[in-house]
Amino acid sequence: MITKIDHIAIAVQNLESALETFSNVLGCAPGSITIENVPSEKVRVAFIPVGETKIELLQPLGDDSPISKFLVKNGDGMHHIALQSTDIDEETARIAALNITTLGAPKQGAGGKRIVFLHPKETNRVLLEFTGKHA
Ligand code: CO
Repeated sequence: MITKIDHIAIAVQNLESALETFSNVLGCAPGSITIENVPSEKVRVAFIPVGETKIELLQPLGDDSPISKFLVKNGDGMHHIALQSTDIDEETARIAALNITTLGAPKQGAGGKRIVFLHPKETNRVLLEFTGKHA
């Protein structure tokens, strides 16, 4: 079951600078937010809590990161919407039955949670991510 929007992700060239901007806008202390490296996704990430959900800031780790390619093409901006699921394997199987392709199988993402992305060509060019429980 999909239960809520887990986070909305924004791709940025400079994580420290974006973290300061978004912390100021949201009225929280930038020092209270931790930055995490996610080598499997070749990104550095920071999650800023906003009520029940979060804003994720994503900076590429290296030129071969998918986020690098996104930034070259689009510049900074909205990257994906993540939906929290109670069972990521069940949700992945459910959408496969609807002929919606995922970008690979669920794998470990930020915060040790299992994640999977859906192919944006089948979801109105919006990149969606399912998040599950910790691996
Ligand atoms: Co995400």
